[in-house]
Amino acid sequence: MTGTRPWDTLRSVVRFGRIETDPVERRLARAASVEDLRRLARRRLPGGVFDYIDGGAEDERTLANNSAAFARIQFRPRVLREVGDVDPSTTLLGRPLPYPLVLAPTGYTRVADPQGELAVARSAERAQLPYTLSTMATRSIEDVAAVSNGRKWFQVYTFRDRGLVKDMISRAAESGYEAIMPTVDLAVLGQRDRDVRRGFTMPPKLGLGTLLDGAIHPGWTWAFARSEPIKFANVAHHVAHQGGGSGGSAPASMAAYASMKFDPNLSWRDIEWMRSIWDGPMIIKGIQSVEDAVLAVHHVADVSRRADHREHDVALRRDRGRRIGPRRAGGEQAVGLAPRSRRHLGPEAPLDQVAAHARAHQPGADPAHRGPLRGHRLHERPR
Ligand SMILES: Cc1cc2nc3c(=O)[nH]c(=O)nc-3n(C[C@H](O)[C@H](O)[C@H](O)COP(=O)(O)O)c2cc1C
Repeated sequence: MTGTRPWDTLRSVVRFGRIETDPVERRLARAASVEDLRRLARRRLPGGVFDYIDGGAEDERTLANNSAAFARIQFRPRVLREVGDVDPSTTLLGRPLPYPLVLAPTGYTRVADPQGELAVARSAERAQLPYTLSTMATRSIEDVAAVSNGRKWFQVYTFRDRGLVKDMISRAAESGYEAIMPTVDLAVLGQRDRDVRRGFTMPPKLGLGTLLDGAIHPGWTWAFARSEPIKFANVAHHVAHQGGGSGGSAPASMAAYASMKFDPNLSWRDIEWMRSIWDGPMIIKGIQSVEDAVLAVHHVADVSRRADHREHDVALRRDRGRRIGPRRAGGEQAVGLAPRSRRHLGPEAPLDQVAAHARAHQPGADPAHRGPLRGHRLHERPR
């Protein structure tokens, strides 16, 4: 027995931290993962709005497959590698980046919060990360430029009316945007089942269901009711002029809007056209196969007017299947294999050689097609 009294023991462990008075900060401080943030969003937003953000297309099979594929990706841990001074910084489009992250475009952002794209652009600037403004944003190219001096990219949907596309690209250039990002996987829209079931429109229709949902999410409802009407800020003037929902405040489903306005005949010729009217870097969003990545390099780089734009990397992305229905698991293979092939063949190897290598080494490929590379082991390059 020692002479320690219980009060002393208690005093040595009890610490009262500063009480956070801002409820948002308090909740965020306790969010340990993206899943926690998702749960917060589900609690705060009406069901239709949450599902617009969270849902996938066509039975959500790609959403499930791709989430499972991400979960299967594992690191191969190495030990005793002096990790006391880790530097995640890198470069992107020839400029430094504190860590490899870019904020992707989201349309209709003000449906989640009245600040919408302005808040995201400000946060991106604080974190020194590029922010991509969507064509279908609810804050305009100019409004975002007015609040952020950070790196800004402009995502381009190809409207049937190319005059409108050209106009937006010029506005982005005048407002100091660094790059344009044509989205190429939305020429045809997959059906988003949750939106159909809920009859979700933009802006949200005020039916009985919405009113009830709004009543149980008072924080969102109060903010929504007090802010100015939501519109597609980059195209509103044009849509109002042409007629058609959602430019101003007439409700329309995104699917109806997109099929009315976006051009399903989008082709590599349009990419070359954009290349010819835009002098800066161009990032193609939505490529999901090595074959298309090779074509992208051909169509974008070869017609580039500035030699420095011929240096590039093509990123294959893997998403949650938000807009496109079931696809082959090819994206997974390409994402996994193209970087390995690049490491194997070295930084100077031309992309079509990397693509051929990735194709030949993907699971199930005929070994006879592996050619001279057969038997090579993909190994780590020395530090
Ligand atoms: C609410 C929401 C709106 C989006 N709006 C756009 C858009 O306007 N343009 C676009 O190119 N991509 C848009 N995306 C796709 C994202 O930019 C990004 O590619 C995608 O969210 C990444 O994959 P994941 O969310 O499926 O993981 C949107 C995504 C979400 C969640």
